[in-house]
Amino acid sequence: MVAFWAAESRAAFRLFRRGALGYDGAGGQNRVSEVPSLTPARSCLAIVLAAGEGTRMRSAHPKVLHAVAGRSLLAHVLEAVRQACGSRGAVVIGPGADAVGVEAKRVLPEADIFVQAERRGTAHAVLAARNAIARGADDVLIVFGDTPMIRPQTLTRMREALATGAAIVVLGFRPKDPTGYGRLVLQGNELVAIREELEASAAERALDLCNGGLMAFAGPTALAILERIGNANREGEYYLTDAIAIARAMGLKAVVLETEEDDVRGINTRAQLAETETALQQRLRKAAMDAGVTLVAPETVFLAADTKFGRDVVVEPFVVFGEGVTVEDNAVIRSFSHLDRTHVGKGARVGPYARLRPGTRLGEDVHVGNFVEVKEALIEAGAKANHLSYIGDATVGAGANVGAGTITCNYDGVAKHRTEIGKNAFIGSNSALVAPVKIGEGAYIGSGSVITHDVPADALAVARGRQTVKEGWAGRLRSLKAAGKKKPAAE
Ligand code: UD1
Ligand code: CA
Repeated sequence: MVAFWAAESRAAFRLFRRGALGYDGAGGQNRVSEVPSLTPARSCLAIVLAAGEGTRMRSAHPKVLHAVAGRSLLAHVLEAVRQACGSRGAVVIGPGADAVGVEAKRVLPEADIFVQAERRGTAHAVLAARNAIARGADDVLIVFGDTPMIRPQTLTRMREALATGAAIVVLGFRPKDPTGYGRLVLQGNELVAIREELEASAAERALDLCNGGLMAFAGPTALAILERIGNANREGEYYLTDAIAIARAMGLKAVVLETEEDDVRGINTRAQLAETETALQQRLRKAAMDAGVTLVAPETVFLAADTKFGRDVVVEPFVVFGEGVTVEDNAVIRSFSHLDRTHVGKGARVGPYARLRPGTRLGEDVHVGNFVEVKEALIEAGAKANHLSYIGDATVGAGANVGAGTITCNYDGVAKHRTEIGKNAFIGSNSALVAPVKIGEGAYIGSGSVITHDVPADALAVARGRQTVKEGWAGRLRSLKAAGKKKPAAE
């Protein structure tokens, strides 16, 4: 099994080794002169700012709970934090945004939730988590809840830069259009200030290296710097970016780490949500292909951040993966299939047009064909359901054959019931299996049956009207019609 995250952490490992080159996948330059490998002994606290109102989303839901690649923006950020910083997180939420706190706890149960009562700027938001900082940590990462593409290896590089003795590490990038971003003011290789656009001079506005927003602070000096930040600016806000000039005045060093735009891609509007989905899908597709998956038309395949693939899996065009899908080696997912919380075993064949809903587990070499829906069901090795079926709340034994049009009638209007189909059983086409019901190993069900009682192993069950045949009936009909008379009675 080659997991995406495994591929990512290998990449992260390579990044450690490249050290001072500061490779970031986009040819950007790292201004940190030496990067030692990170000692696991350094403790880390991540502060996630998520108190924004997100008014431009025009939504009844908090911005950070909107989703890309199958999970909330906040969950993406917390997952990166968990990998790069560990489980100590402080999430700053707005008043009344309880749902944001619940989501934070779901992803990072150890996280502390802080409420920023009034939105008075990024530094003010960070200080809402003052108690967490005061408890002490070697590294304090400040990340935004609305930048879901931040990669764990980028956060790791920020921590590495702290380990070289910087008091603050700022993540810089060169956007195509720098409007609205804080500009990084450098003297030589040293960062001397960040100027918010509103406060910047014309010369400063011409600078193209911008503040990505995320920062890392050395824990021991973090509070001393943060508490000196004032709000004497046009907006009357406490700007986190003022920390740089303050640190310099205290004789401390601030450095810039340059990264690619995706890492700091923030979301304020639905259009940006869609652009981020596109960018994130490109990243996930590339990771899947790098890990040995064939995507015939990658731009048409939608992945979740946690989709896991084995080797030599083939995914045909137009397939959607929801959260929690694992596909093992050599499986083929054919066009127009939709999978959600599903496990696909080695060599299995799915689709075209299959719908695999939560709780589907397909064993090795299982075939699930066109217009088959499966939910909460285990289909064991080599079993086949090739056409037009619903298999819900069921077990299908190894080697069983589920004929076209078979329906497990799992719901009686009140409760759900299970269907168990034994090994090598044969379910004739267009049968209805009324649960709870068990079909024994090797049993046969005649086509068109409505099965309401258990069927013993190796038996044949037929439950449909018997066929009657009227010899010569059709011939008599035609001669009566020719003579202009009425249809004969059936008997
Ligand atoms: C910030 C930076 C800017 C940088 C840009 C990158 C500051 C002062 N400016 O600007 O230099 O180029 O990010 O995107 O830091 N938040 C709160 N509470 C607040 C204010 C903000 O939780 O009181 C949160 C927001 O929800 C958001 C993050 O902090 O997730 C950043 O705030 P935002 O207002 O978007 O900052 P920018 O003006 O974009
Ligand atoms: Ca912003």
